Amino acid sequence: MKCNYIWQIPTLLIAGLLLAGCFQGQPSKKPPIHLNPNMDHQQKVKAQAESKFFENGSGMRLPVEGTVARGYLRENTVYYGGKDESGKPVAKMPVTITEKLLQRGRERYTIFCQPCHDGTGSGKGIVVKRGFMPPPSFHLDRLRNAPDGHFFDVITNGIRNMPTYRHQVPVADRWAIVGYIRALQRSQSATIGDVPQDKRNELK
Ligand code: HEC
Repeated sequence: MKCNYIWQIPTLLIAGLLLAGCFQGQPSKKPPIHLNPNMDHQQKVKAQAESKFFENGSGMRLPVEGTVARGYLRENTVYYGGKDESGKPVAKMPVTITEKLLQRGRERYTIFCQPCHDGTGSGKGIVVKRGFMPPPSFHLDRLRNAPDGHFFDVITNGIRNMPTYRHQVPVADRWAIVGYIRALQRSQSATIGDVPQDKRNELK
């Protein structure tokens, strides 16, 4: 047993020296030895890389014309564009108004529209007070009588000096905001006829 230990020490030393010293600092054109290559090296075209296979030399391809990503067909122009087949803004929104929808609309309106249009929609938001050009009040007859689709279109595409909010506000939320703006408009021009009979005596 003792004898074995004595021989192990120099053997390990020599093996270690050999390993550490082998080919160190020697340039080589060959790739380093890769004991377990798995799928690290395979023939493939990487994004943005050159390719000799395709005529224009680029490995990246454009999708076939007319390709539509899953979930983006959006054939329903009324829901996704706020316009009917003839391209006119729809008079009535294609979504049922519920209290939940209006609550969502109020929340989204407060985040994305109130800074300029203010809480009542009169167009005197905080950004306007700091010098941004004032938007028109939602309570003008012109906007009171405008079709629902017009509001959807303004959010989607912006209008004159107002930028688009399509990237911040998804389609379902745009309709929720439209519903809420309608409620705001109504709130500023309500008559006693808008209050349900049994709630009228609660008014002061
Ligand atoms: C950065 C300020 C700003 C924000 C935020 C903003 N708007 Fe506007 N909006 C404007 C301005 C300014 C105009 C007037 C544009 C013009 O006439 O040049 C306008 C105009 C409008 C109009 C009237 C369009 C017409 O027919 O004259 C509507 C409707 C409207 N905005 C809806 C919205 C809604 C809904 C949101 C939230 C999703 C929103 N805006 C967010 C600034 C803003």
